[in-house]
Amino acid sequence: MLSKRRIAALIVAAGSGERARGNGAQLPKQFAVIGGRSVLQRSIDAFAALPEITEIHVVIGDGQRDLFDAAVQSASFTAVHTGGPTRQASVRNGLAAMAQNNPDIVLVHDAARPFASAALIRRVIAGLDNADAALPVQPVTSTLKRVENGAVVGTVSRAGLFAAETPQGFTYRAIADAHERAANLPEDFTDDAAIAEWAGMKVKTVAGEAENIKLTTAEDIASADKRLTAEDLASRPDVRTGIGYDVHTLGPGSEIWLGGIAIPHTRGLVGHSDADVILHALTDALLGALGDGDIGKHFPPSDERWKGAASDAFLKDAIDRVHTRGGIIAHLDVTYVGEGPKLSPYREAMRERIAEIAGITVDRIGVKATTNEGVGFIGRGEGAAAHAVATIRLPL
Ligand code: CTP
Ligand code: MG
Repeated sequence: MLSKRRIAALIVAAGSGERARGNGAQLPKQFAVIGGRSVLQRSIDAFAALPEITEIHVVIGDGQRDLFDAAVQSASFTAVHTGGPTRQASVRNGLAAMAQNNPDIVLVHDAARPFASAALIRRVIAGLDNADAALPVQPVTSTLKRVENGAVVGTVSRAGLFAAETPQGFTYRAIADAHERAANLPEDFTDDAAIAEWAGMKVKTVAGEAENIKLTTAEDIASADKRLTAEDLASRPDVRTGIGYDVHTLGPGSEIWLGGIAIPHTRGLVGHSDADVILHALTDALLGALGDGDIGKHFPPSDERWKGAASDAFLKDAIDRVHTRGGIIAHLDVTYVGEGPKLSPYREAMRERIAEIAGITVDRIGVKATTNEGVGFIGRGEGAAAHAVATIRLPL
């Protein structure tokens, strides 16, 4: 019976996250990255992990499409819709936009709650077996005070009081109709169970969970990021380091590719690909840390496919190999050795490009350069080299 129902998720992410804007936070909280993945992507993934969810709709604010595209992988959701000035309006828009799909059940969820577990989502779905609305709640544990002008004017009994969470589950038709009817009322409903209640639907409660917090303040986001990052590190205790070295000859040219960017120069590096010694050394360092051959094994110079290739593809391949092993990149460090060009004006651009390819933050990238003091083949300007060290963490 359960498996025959079409169950949609509707994730509302159209807010501007004003309360989390402290400390200069630029992004609405749903687009913030915590533990390497955006809050919104995590909320989507919580539903995408369940095979019984047949579609995932996301509601974002007018003008948030670029932020959305940067924060979310395109394959992970069904459709994106535009929200309104209040949460209620955003949900209403989302429900209306889903009308042609006409699912049996809709689970309405706040994007700002990225930690909803599979068990919680399934409890909400099961709650709909004998009700048109199912609401996850937890009993209030703190003593409640009524405060006016900084002074207590009363103590409110917490008996019978529960805090509501999302996802909240509904029969799609019933909640879509209730939202339409409630749209022009003067009151602003802050959750959908309140609208169901107003419409006379039976709202059944199921157990919520403490981990399912709604990220609200800048501190909530910072501490979630810290906790997830610490978990990521702790689950990958096998720390490995690899070295890489590459050299190319210098020849005629007007630019030189280094660290994934083109730098104007009176000479160019000669090689089968774009001859970016920095990216080649980093690629070998990563392959070394993995114990997985070297760049020549994976991208043989004899293969015509790599002629003139942009070397970011080599580095990306090595990064993907780390991810395939369940690993993360802890740090990448490189030293360029050459009689020019002067790299310091380009250092930040190279760090940013390497960080972008590797999918890690710039503070985990080192780029340094030295001349060879006029000594040897590098000193004579016949070639240039790079030495790299990569540190990765793998699971056991
Ligand atoms: N939301 C929405 N449309 C709105 C307002 C809120 O889709 N007009 C969404 C938010 O993106 C969030 C959820 O509703 O996922 C819960 O709202 P809340 O936590 O209040 O988020 P914001 O309104 O963005 O934050 P704030 O109230 O601090 O501005
Ligand atoms: Mg709000």
